[in-house]
Amino acid sequence: MKFALLLSKEDIHLGKEEALAILSPKSYSNVGNLLIMHLKEKEGLFNRLAYTDAVYVLLFESSYNQFIGEMERFDWKSVYRENFCVRVSSILSNSIKSGNKHRKVHKNIKFDKKLYSEQNLAGFIWRGIDNPKVTLRNSKTNIRIFFTKNKVYCCLLHNELRHDFNSRKSHKRPRPSPVSLHPKLAKAMVNLTGAKNEDTVVDPFCGSGGILIEAGLMGLRVVGYDLNKKMLWKSIVNLKHFGIKSSSLLVKDFFNIRRKYKYIVTDLPYGLNTNIMQNIRVTKVNKNKIGNYLDKFYGKIISHLENILADKAVVIFPNYFDYRKALKKSKLKIKHEFERYVHNNLTRKIVVLEK
Ligand SMILES: C[S@@+](CC[C@H](N)C(=O)[O-])C[C@H]1O[C@@H](n2cnc3c(N)ncnc32)[C@H](O)[C@@H]1O
Repeated sequence: MKFALLLSKEDIHLGKEEALAILSPKSYSNVGNLLIMHLKEKEGLFNRLAYTDAVYVLLFESSYNQFIGEMERFDWKSVYRENFCVRVSSILSNSIKSGNKHRKVHKNIKFDKKLYSEQNLAGFIWRGIDNPKVTLRNSKTNIRIFFTKNKVYCCLLHNELRHDFNSRKSHKRPRPSPVSLHPKLAKAMVNLTGAKNEDTVVDPFCGSGGILIEAGLMGLRVVGYDLNKKMLWKSIVNLKHFGIKSSSLLVKDFFNIRRKYKYIVTDLPYGLNTNIMQNIRVTKVNKNKIGNYLDKFYGKIISHLENILADKAVVIFPNYFDYRKALKKSKLKIKHEFERYVHNNLTRKIVVLEK
């Protein structure tokens, strides 16, 4: 069965890799923020995707020349339920415009405005159904037609993904933390591992539990460690608040973890927040020394991560650490890299690593 995923424009690259990791399609292709994939039915997992706005069943795809013929030939009775609506959108290589704006966007495509209007295209469905009814809002048969540069994709809405990330933001949890990630990013990071079903996800620097909450809510088992007792307690309280039961949380120094774990997802301590650095004051004189110190600290993390990782890790490094250089000395391979700007002095580098 073929599906079309409309990826969030906030981060198309992250949305795409997240979906591929979770759904493992037989084959896929993508244009702009439209990701077409061939799947065995895996509907349950669509709801996990943080950077996907909507999922469609692909009814057919065609060239511009054959599109109208396909609209005429398609068996609309096979998908029609109660009422219908038709929406058209243009997909560009890196953006999307909705509604009738596609005419402006696709100046280079020979666009027959009348022929490709929502009204005209709806006519093909109207004529293919016995007692048709058009309902524009909350329609039961929501047909969406995506025009790309060379192809047209005719789709049926499967589900829109509406995550309640706001209610899980750090300041809404019983024990907040200013350094906790946005839940959307935390969820996508967990998904990038491809962990499913009863798999366990470990955050060895779990802090107040932002990553573990997302993993736990997706039904994964979670294990969290933190050196700081107060931070670990925050995780315990926060996870309980969200009803996450299958968890194991322990006060432990990362460097003392001896077990191997298949999936590790973590946001490393940054600069002066690292425990090593807590008693050191940055001055012009010692700035370089501190830089070297942090390099050593993150280097040590990479070599211990290599010891305890069995399969895949998703790690956030701060931009001021040359993780590529450090990783060359290890057996960990970089699979994907993403970036998030935080403020002038900090950009988060989200790196997917494989053993
Ligand atoms: C960036 S914060 C993690 C934030 C977390 N994702 C959250 O949602 O709150 C990094 C955490 O690493 C912990 N930490 C620092 N050094 C550590 C070590 N050697 N072993 C374990 N945890 C450590 C800190 O106490 C801090 O809570």
